[in-house]
Amino acid sequence: MSDPDELLRIEAIRKTFPGVVALDSVDFDLRRGEVHVLLGENGAGKSTLIKMLSGAYRPDSGRVVVGGKEVRIHGAQDAERLGIATIYQEFNLVPDLTVAENIFLGRQPRRFGMIDRKRMEAQAAELLERVGVNVSPRARVRELGIARLQMVEIAKALSLNTRVLIMDEPTAVLTSEEVEKLFRIVRQLREDGAGIVFITHHLEEIAALGDRVTVIRDGKSVGQVPASTPEDELVRLMVGRSIEQQYPRERADAGTALLTVEGLTRDGVFHDVSFEVRAGEVVGIAGLVGAGRTEVVRAVFGADPYDKGSVAVAGTRLPRHDVGAALTAGIGLVPEDRKGQGLLLDASVEENLGLVTLRAATRGGLVDLKGQRTAAAKIAEQLGVRMAGLGQHVRTLSGGNQQKVVIGKWLLADTKVLILDEPTRGIDVGAKVEIYQLINELTAAGHAVLMISSDLPEVLGMSDRVLVMAQGRIAGELTAAEATQDSVMALAVSTPITTATTVEGSRGH
Ligand SMILES: Nc1ncnc2c1ncn2[C@@H]1O[C@H](COP(=O)(O)OP(=O)(O)OP(=O)(O)O)[C@@H](O)[C@H]1O
Ligand SMILES: [Mg+2]
Repeated sequence: MSDPDELLRIEAIRKTFPGVVALDSVDFDLRRGEVHVLLGENGAGKSTLIKMLSGAYRPDSGRVVVGGKEVRIHGAQDAERLGIATIYQEFNLVPDLTVAENIFLGRQPRRFGMIDRKRMEAQAAELLERVGVNVSPRARVRELGIARLQMVEIAKALSLNTRVLIMDEPTAVLTSEEVEKLFRIVRQLREDGAGIVFITHHLEEIAALGDRVTVIRDGKSVGQVPASTPEDELVRLMVGRSIEQQYPRERADAGTALLTVEGLTRDGVFHDVSFEVRAGEVVGIAGLVGAGRTEVVRAVFGADPYDKGSVAVAGTRLPRHDVGAALTAGIGLVPEDRKGQGLLLDASVEENLGLVTLRAATRGGLVDLKGQRTAAAKIAEQLGVRMAGLGQHVRTLSGGNQQKVVIGKWLLADTKVLILDEPTRGIDVGAKVEIYQLINELTAAGHAVLMISSDLPEVLGMSDRVLVMAQGRIAGELTAAEATQDSVMALAVSTPITTATTVEGSRGH
């Protein structure tokens, strides 16, 4: 007997890749009008599971039942026909086409055999309006920020008469305001009777948005619980143990200044940015997206130029716009955009982990390959990188495990100053703690850490001092004791141009 409210059901799905059992045995079901959260550690099999529904992969065995009938989903078109739309961890839009063209790709409305551009753009405008995003149907996708890209993906899903909407970590790259907006749209879709599969590593989102949670561990579904389940219980189900302390910061004694930035200015981007980071310190940079945080650290690292000011490492001034000099002086940067800047996707885990250390591992002109391998194996183990072996290509690692590799690479490098830009994006709660512990080890050994994060609890939990940026300036600095959600936000939304003048004025400059 088929249940009219059941949208889809998965029974004992199994999927293997050479040397890897990605899914061992997973059961899952989705009902009309619910948000069903998929929860699991990095590499547990969440993305692989949903790729079985979008037609990207075929299961080795098991059953997929949609609307009461067993189906085989052999490609994107099959999924589309069944009313299943997927928003992937990596987006699928074509950058050089317009928003409207992307929404209607392959099924543009036609008139006398020609694409009816007017009608297409009008329909796109209607869909965009429905998701409440302010973007022109004629804008090129390349020009949109990540939040808007996602809204376009949702608009596209709506245009397909979607009954099942699958979202793989949609909030990983969104600001809290954007998350609120996304949640409103998802709630509306749920009210309209759609079923939503939602993947996230932000546990607080589960109670806020979800109805049910299926927990996947090592490719098996290990439990199904209501979304109101307390977070510590969810963590226990997910990692198989409880986490005592999410932010285990162990303060080290601050020593001499390792990084000194003075009056750094790039016209129109950031202005008069001055701060220092001392040996043993973790300094956090908070601020809203667009405040100029990434731009500043890229200039400090030499990846971008600046117009005025200076950067010095351990008292030695660095040349401007020179990554090589920054590396030699001992600065490392884990970039925000790791796919683009941090990884060689078609190289092995070991090769990627060795990228920065190679120089350090060179003994008398020879590369100490054995030493490198031992170090790589150790850090991969510490971070719990889930892989078939050190030889696995990074491309085939799960999203979170790719991120661990980039971070591991820099943790291995013997940098005096390590700059981390959104270090734990997409990383599961258990692995985050491991990264924090490695940060503790670095500072205990006298290194300095500068960390940008949009995850406010993380900034508050791990920083010894917090710099808050707003509109390209440092709006204020808070000690760990002063820094709270409220004090940081107050500075983040302030207009520092006037504040800075008054502060300078009162000092009699
Ligand atoms: N094409 C592939 N070839 C080999 N192994 C793969 C491939 N795709 C996925 N895997 C492996 O399958 C396992 C599950 O990966 P999956 O991407 O589903 O994890 P996930 O739960 O989505 O993790 P994350 O939270 O990090 O995104 C991982 O061990 C991964 O390395
Ligand atoms: Mg994934």
